[in-house]
Amino acid sequence: MLIREAKVQDAPAFVALFDRVNSETTFMLFERGESPTSVEHQSQIFEHWAKTDSGVVFVCEEDKELIGFVAGRRGVGRRQAHSIYIAMGVLQAWVGRGIGRSLLEALEGWAQSKGLHRLELMVNYNNERAIRLYEKFGFEREGVKRHALRIDGHYIDAFYMAKLIGG
Ligand SMILES: CC(C)(COP(=O)(O)OP(=O)(O)OC[C@H]1O[C@@H](n2cnc3c(N)ncnc32)[C@H](O)[C@@H]1OP(=O)(O)O)[C@@H](O)C(=O)NCCC(=O)NCCS
Repeated sequence: MLIREAKVQDAPAFVALFDRVNSETTFMLFERGESPTSVEHQSQIFEHWAKTDSGVVFVCEEDKELIGFVAGRRGVGRRQAHSIYIAMGVLQAWVGRGIGRSLLEALEGWAQSKGLHRLELMVNYNNERAIRLYEKFGFEREGVKRHALRIDGHYIDAFYMAKLIGG
C-alpha cells in the first residue's frame, strides 16, 4: 500500500475513485454520478494546485489501483490562505485498516511544510467512523451546521471540525 501525492496522470483514476466512494455510502457530499469534475477539469485542478500550492490530493494505491484519497483546498485570499478544507474517502472494501489515518498524516505533513495553521472539514453527525478518526487525529468539534444535507428525503446535521497546527 502506497500513500503518495496525486499527479496529473492520476486524473482518470481519481475521478473514477471519487465517483465510487460517493456511490458506496451516504457520507459524502455528492451522490453517485454527481461528481463535479470531469477528467479534463480534474487534470487542470491538479496542474493548478501543483503550480500554486493552493491545494493537494494524496491517494492510497494498492496493486496500481487507487483505493482512497484525501483532498485539501486552501482558503481563498490572504486572510484564509492558512486554512485547508479537507474531503476524504476510502473504498468500503478497505476501511478500518488505517488508510484514513495515513492519508491525514500525509496531508498534515504537506500543510506543515507550507506553514499552514488550520485543517478544517465538515462531517455528517452520524458518521461515527469518520468522527472517531478525526477526533483521534486531534480535530475538535466547532459547531453544528443544522440541516446541512438532505439525504434520502431527510435533513441531516453536520459538524464543523478543525485542528490547529504549527505556530
Ligand atoms: C471515514 C474514512 C475516510 C476513514 O478511513 P479509514 O481508512 O476507514 O480510517 P482508519 O482505518 O484510518 O481509522 C478509522 C478509525 O475509525 C475507528 N473505527 C474503525 N471502525 C469503526 C467503526 N465500525 N465504527 C466507529 N469507528 C470505527 C477507529 O477508531 C479507527 O481508528 P483506530 O483503528 O486507530 O482505532 C472511511 O471510513 C470512508 O471513506 N468512509 C466513507 C466515506 C466517508 O465517510 N468520508 C468522510 C466524509 S467526512
